Amino acid sequence: MSLGATEQTQPAFVGRNAEVADDFCPILGFDHLELYVGNAKQSAAYYCHAFGFECTAVRGLQTGERTRASYLVEQGGIRLVLTSGLHSSHDAARSVSRHGDSVAVIALSVPSVDEAFSAAVSRGARPAASPAVASDDHGQLRHASIRLYGDCVMQFIERGDYSGVFGPGFEAAPEVAGASRSRGCGLHTIDHVVANVELGRMNEWARFFSRVLGFNQLVHFDDEAISTEYSALMSKVMQDGSGVIKFPINEPAEGRGKSQIEEFLDFHEGPGVQHIACRTDDILGTVSRLRENGVEFLHVPGNYYDDLEQRVGEIDEPIDRLAELGILADRDEDGYLLQIFTKPVEDRPTLFYEIIERHGARGFGEGNFKSLFVALEREQAARGNL
Ligand code: FE2
Repeated sequence: MSLGATEQTQPAFVGRNAEVADDFCPILGFDHLELYVGNAKQSAAYYCHAFGFECTAVRGLQTGERTRASYLVEQGGIRLVLTSGLHSSHDAARSVSRHGDSVAVIALSVPSVDEAFSAAVSRGARPAASPAVASDDHGQLRHASIRLYGDCVMQFIERGDYSGVFGPGFEAAPEVAGASRSRGCGLHTIDHVVANVELGRMNEWARFFSRVLGFNQLVHFDDEAISTEYSALMSKVMQDGSGVIKFPINEPAEGRGKSQIEEFLDFHEGPGVQHIACRTDDILGTVSRLRENGVEFLHVPGNYYDDLEQRVGEIDEPIDRLAELGILADRDEDGYLLQIFTKPVEDRPTLFYEIIERHGARGFGEGNFKSLFVALEREQAARGNL
């Protein structure tokens, strides 16, 4: 029997293609994500060697920064900033002590920081930092931030004509001896950023995105749609007015065992970002390279592929290649998608990555939820947490 039976997942589509009458908080796209990590220097090496990022800018004692060390790693249009505190009193050090390595800042590029910030705050967002200017010889960069789930903040950034490397305080990273500068794995864009929140808080955060940021609800999955014998979750996907930014929000639901969301909440010690989905246009090539580099992926049961063609119809990629690499496929009314999930990228069972290639499909792999959950629970049981 296939574990990926689509008939068991029946999402209720809400507001799909809905136009936002008044997009009071227009967003241009993801600017970057900042992760607070235990050892930014070593994390940067991992993201470069395993995921094919390139370290392009640094900030730390060598650039006159006294409190933290940051490494900007880039691939395609994806920018991650990896930051560690240089003393235990720095926010990054405190965050790592509590959450382990995790996403601290989701930075969005906006046409006007002042307008985005005042629109959000007047609609109930809690401010984290008022609009301010950071400047150096290369120009000015405007930024402000509001509080999000857990200790995460959402930052608004307006780059204007800033021409320096990333931002004031950063300097171009020196060439690392022996390291190739073009070792990318084909990742080019952040597709979506998923949060896990506490039981009963999903609707509150969905309302936050719609009321405060003018997002609309793309889709809702209830616990009937996303459940296995042991655990269940509910999920709502919120997207901005132009549809370029998507934030799925999960909460645990009643099940026989501990859900993967509860496991996350236990080890992350509160809500936060569960996974970051990165787009590629060549998932076969990308996943081959990531596997060669040692990235670990969730194991997909061999029988998942037995009736894949019947379930998803005709796709361009050979099924045996997908099976070889453990890549999942799913179809919705707009087309199909291919996706794969890494294991957590730190010791705590918290943040992981999704690699996704879209061929028209705008969904999230609903048909794969079941098989994905079974795979996740196998890992969870092995950790003694089910
Ligand atoms: Fe995802």
